[in-house]
Amino acid sequence: MNELTFHRHRRLRRTPGIRKMVRETVLQKEDLIFPIFVLEGRDIKNEVPSMPGVYQVSLDHLGEEMNRLESSGVPAVIVFGIPEHKDENGTQAYAEEGIVQKAIRQIKQTHPDLTVIADTCLCQYTDHGHCGIIEHGTIVNDTSLDLLTKTAVSQADAGADIIAPSNMMDGFTAAIRKGLDEAGYTNIPVMSYSVKFASAFYGPFRDAAHSSPSFGDRKTYQMDPPNRLEALREAASDVEEGADFLIVKPALSYLDVVREVKDETAKPVVAYNVSGEYAMIKAAAANGWIDEKEVVMEKLTSMKRAGADLIVTYFAIDAAAWIDQEQ
Ligand code: PBG
Repeated sequence: MNELTFHRHRRLRRTPGIRKMVRETVLQKEDLIFPIFVLEGRDIKNEVPSMPGVYQVSLDHLGEEMNRLESSGVPAVIVFGIPEHKDENGTQAYAEEGIVQKAIRQIKQTHPDLTVIADTCLCQYTDHGHCGIIEHGTIVNDTSLDLLTKTAVSQADAGADIIAPSNMMDGFTAAIRKGLDEAGYTNIPVMSYSVKFASAFYGPFRDAAHSSPSFGDRKTYQMDPPNRLEALREAASDVEEGADFLIVKPALSYLDVVREVKDETAKPVVAYNVSGEYAMIKAAAANGWIDEKEVVMEKLTSMKRAGADLIVTYFAIDAAAWIDQEQ
């Protein structure tokens, strides 16, 4: 028999020390962004049933949550508001005393070192639950842009460090960039939800944010899941329109898209590890079917390996503690 020739890959896996030396992707706390749901009222801290460990809090409990975040070492928060009053045009989205505006002002006052990102959308604020304005039964594009721009400017007025429009109307990045510039916020970056698919993985979020559409679905503005070239077109147009960061959402079933967007642009890419992805892990872990910590760390690391520079995740605070343990 001829002598066998082969490669000994296992040499570099022999000890924890060697494995660490050749590790190509390392998850850091600085990569993480924590989502928070803020609602009107007093003394409210509701656990979201489909998202164990995630709470909707009123402003008087926001400080505790931000203390928890700050001491975890996660540097950034993305704020979602749940208004008491919803109407056709989502007026609470851009009200000076709207819930998100108040929350942003409060966080910047009590925790000035946290980077505060405002989710800019209308769906939590409209009584029909769509991300734009409805005329004759359809979600109209250009009229919606004015309200989204007003919303972004009001969030910047409140002190938001970054504006993150998630509505998927065409031209929203250009409109918001122009609106921010005209209001004097030329230095406020736009973290655009450039590539947002019409995904079933958003289900638990819509429970948490009370934002399910009352009729129809979001398929005329969010993307069709089978499409990757369309994702590249969306990303390219957002770059042209002035986006500073590009979000790909959801993350887990779309890591191929994360990689392609990363390779095609020079912008920081953000993967949004969405509510349904969180709920699945929580449910399996609660049944003892998977090891939560191991699965979460593997999953978040895979998002970075796919090219994400940043990750929005409901696991951010837990992941920070696990990163500490490993060091
Ligand atoms: C608002 C918005 C949604 C999410 C973030 N911003 C829901 C949606 O489009 O229905 C989903 C986040 C998640 O599922 O974690 N447009």
